[in-house]
Amino acid sequence: MDAKGGIEVTLQQGAPLEAQVDLFAFTTFGDPSKDSIFKSVDTALGGVLADVTKTESFEGKTGQSVIVHTHGRIAAKRVLVVGGGSKTEFQNPHIRDITATIAQVANKAGAATVGFLLPSLGTNREATLVQLASEGIHLGTYKFGRYLTSDEHKRPMSLKSFGILTDAKGKKPNASQTKAFALASARGAQIAQAVNHARDLINEPAAVVTPTALASDAQAIAKKHKGTLTVTVLDAKKCEELGMGMFLAVGKGSDQEPRFIHMTYKPAKKSKKRICFIGKGITFDSGGYSLKPSQAMEDMKVDMSGAAAVISAMDAIASIGSDYEVHAIAACCENLVSGRAYKLGDVLTSTDGTTVEINNTDAEGRLTLGDAITYARTKIQPDEMFDFATLTGACMVALGPYTAGVMSDHESLVRTWMSVAERTGEDMWRLPLNARLREQLKSPIADMRNTGDRFGGAITAGLFLKTFAKDTPWVHIDIAGPASLSTTRPSQPKGGTGFAVSTIVEYATRS
Ligand code: BES
Ligand code: MN
Ligand code: ZN
Repeated sequence: MDAKGGIEVTLQQGAPLEAQVDLFAFTTFGDPSKDSIFKSVDTALGGVLADVTKTESFEGKTGQSVIVHTHGRIAAKRVLVVGGGSKTEFQNPHIRDITATIAQVANKAGAATVGFLLPSLGTNREATLVQLASEGIHLGTYKFGRYLTSDEHKRPMSLKSFGILTDAKGKKPNASQTKAFALASARGAQIAQAVNHARDLINEPAAVVTPTALASDAQAIAKKHKGTLTVTVLDAKKCEELGMGMFLAVGKGSDQEPRFIHMTYKPAKKSKKRICFIGKGITFDSGGYSLKPSQAMEDMKVDMSGAAAVISAMDAIASIGSDYEVHAIAACCENLVSGRAYKLGDVLTSTDGTTVEINNTDAEGRLTLGDAITYARTKIQPDEMFDFATLTGACMVALGPYTAGVMSDHESLVRTWMSVAERTGEDMWRLPLNARLREQLKSPIADMRNTGDRFGGAITAGLFLKTFAKDTPWVHIDIAGPASLSTTRPSQPKGGTGFAVSTIVEYATRS
């Protein structure tokens, strides 16, 4: 199911004009005629580059690019100029889309080798840019093509080697820089591979990615990291013994057996703290008896994106290594209708004893997560926990499709989380856990009900979860919007995005 593509990312040395590659690429920020690399390449090419950029109105803006043949005037066979937009507004994560674009152009042009001159934005940013550039190459060549049978989709990629040049003058990086760049590039590849793996899990139909399939996937990842990564999978019987009344009720309408997945990464040294990442793992959400209309149900195989993110992230975390003890949890099941399915009006008892009256079977994620959070809080007793869930349409109404909603009462933890998300470039925005909205969750016959009114739907879902998190430092991230997208950017095709993987990995492996 992987789309690694087998592209080797290397660190190149030497002057740009001497790079013996099929495609040499660089970035200009704004007006290319003011760019020194542009000028030197243009001079070497006898002015064609300036001609072409002029006729094609290339102004160095984001999303613009021009490609020319060099006809032997320089060592590279072709030159590609990619617009970087305004230099002052350029943020490190933007480089992902630049290298993704280059990789795609290379494949279209049939190029096997690429040389890319890293834009000079200051030495302190270089290693990070190398990492993100490496991510972009692997993310940009991702394709979910398993079910496309025509020859066009079966053609292998031409791109084999992508060299990153870190100095415009061809100066050799010193030993410590070389080491830092190599580490950064490998780190980028590991993160992108985890993101792409999450994309695969999300894009696969629900008939393939069942709760048991997710459990096998977690087991396969643990096997790869024998010694540091272990996994425990609980079946329905075990969950019953633990009293997971909410989780089990949701899965009851399906013939697919539920699986509760718990992965543990233990560092070699004594760990500094224990972190737990929890993912919503509804492998298909029909809505249950509060059945979704067809259009809303169409994409509901993506309702396990949180689980996909935490499971896949563990692979990269184990590869990169972390100073922390890291746990990933996913309570996985299918929300369907049948003679055994849970019903409106049912009263469920959660692991912690809280009773919940069901007034909407489509608000199933919070039920499964509630029991998962209690499991984490009591069995793992983490210093911090985070949950990732395609939880509410209301969150998308509030923030649009690209931004995740972040809710937490723990100021310092949520601030740290947001600062890491900003570094990785994943769009997240805080929503208030306004306690006044708890009113909406009152039930006349149970401790609470599972849904509130229409207004504040993302927040009442967050408040519901908070009941189970209690005093353990916790952050809730609603990824209903960005988990799967119908629009594209170079580093991200349509469908499952692998959202949250890079921030989870960055958070757990930061030094
Ligand atoms: N899985 C959905 C939320 C969702 C919607 C995810 C769109 C991805 C894209 C969730 O289980 C759900 O159905 N939520 C309901 C909650 C409501 C019944 C309170 C919703 O948002 O409509
Ligand atoms: Mn639902
Ligand atoms: Zn759902």
